[in-house]
Amino acid sequence: MLHNIFANVAESAGYGEIKTPLIEDLGVFARIGDATDVVTKEMYDFHDKGERHVALRPELTASVCRSFAQHRPTPPWKVWYAGSNFRYEKPQRGRYRQFDQVGLEVLGVDDPDLDVEVIALGWEFYRRLGLTEVNLIINSLGEPDDRARYVEALRGYFAAAGEGLTEQSRETLQRNPLRVLDSKREHDAPCIASAPTIAEFYSAEAADHFAGVQAGLRMLGIPFKVETKLVRGLDYYRRTIFEFQGSTLDSAQKALGGGGRYDGLVEALGGPATPGIGFALGVDRTLLACDDEGVFCLEPRRLDAFVVDTTGGVEAVAITAELRANGFAADRAFDGRSMKAQMKLANRSGASVAVIIGSDEVEAGTVVVKPMEAGIDQQTILRNDLIPHLNELKDQ
Ligand code: HAM
Repeated sequence: MLHNIFANVAESAGYGEIKTPLIEDLGVFARIGDATDVVTKEMYDFHDKGERHVALRPELTASVCRSFAQHRPTPPWKVWYAGSNFRYEKPQRGRYRQFDQVGLEVLGVDDPDLDVEVIALGWEFYRRLGLTEVNLIINSLGEPDDRARYVEALRGYFAAAGEGLTEQSRETLQRNPLRVLDSKREHDAPCIASAPTIAEFYSAEAADHFAGVQAGLRMLGIPFKVETKLVRGLDYYRRTIFEFQGSTLDSAQKALGGGGRYDGLVEALGGPATPGIGFALGVDRTLLACDDEGVFCLEPRRLDAFVVDTTGGVEAVAITAELRANGFAADRAFDGRSMKAQMKLANRSGASVAVIIGSDEVEAGTVVVKPMEAGIDQQTILRNDLIPHLNELKDQ
């Protein structure tokens, strides 16, 4: 159901589904960034029987870019996906070693209006699920040069802070100064609060692009907050980044989903210079948020008909197939059960009607259609009239 909702949102905006492999060459995922935990600590990598160094995918963006570089579809290339990912993390509520994502990516467009479209599609997905406790946080990491100057400024600032930072954050500083901003440790908070912000380093081009994104979101009435210290766990981001945060989850797991621009990634994977943007939404966390908000997005589809066959089961084979071929959700009992047992199953299935057939009906070329709602009479109709009759009932 959740996947269907996401597929509807994405496909109605012109995105086609892509399936990428669960296992790829380690080099594909190494491009996520060797300063990230995802690459250095969390990868499930191994040598296969041909001595290839491969890994279970920790996310899908790198695979989508690898696929673009390999097959060279005509840009703009708009794709959506759903699937499992693997990261060797410490399991806790909302953080698992195998988890599912739905997401989308667009390659080949630089326009800030596309950033707005992508963010709006994520927003629309949560709206259709019925979640209300979702906050959109955005930031821009600037052009690569802006980002590089900012990282150097941060390095200097945090290095001077000394004991103002925890030992873990001082370690992070050696690898990636930006990630220090992501520390949730209380001791680090005052130092991080006074750190320089990326906005001070934007080139005119980066500032314009980010202003365009914000103007578009305002036009669509999508509420958002600019958080200049927002950074993301993966290294490939440039310019716009964003997160959908759920306020019912623990703070370390509050990101329901996130994404951003990764304009250099296709090139790093051997393709032509190609801008890219997308997001991935954590299915497991989204379901936790649905539980927390009491949103029952997973209501099972009701059956239209349950076929009760007292001739031994052969009639049910044909009738169930005919119903399904005509677009009705239909089920039946197996193992030649008694009429009473089959009616019990029909009741439990939640079907709107039972379609009953016994030897008398076979002889007369009829079936009995019994609405499961109390107080509505059953009707005997010609076998050939079953589909039009059910269509009529549906329209009532
Ligand atoms: P990410 O922030 O690493 O981004 O993951 C996106 C979402 O996946 C997170 O917000 C979270 O909901 C979920 N998630 C991540 N790790 C876990 C885990 N261990 N257990 C449960 N849920 C988890 C990416 O993966 C990027 N590929 C997003 C993107 C697409 N950027 C551009 N395009």
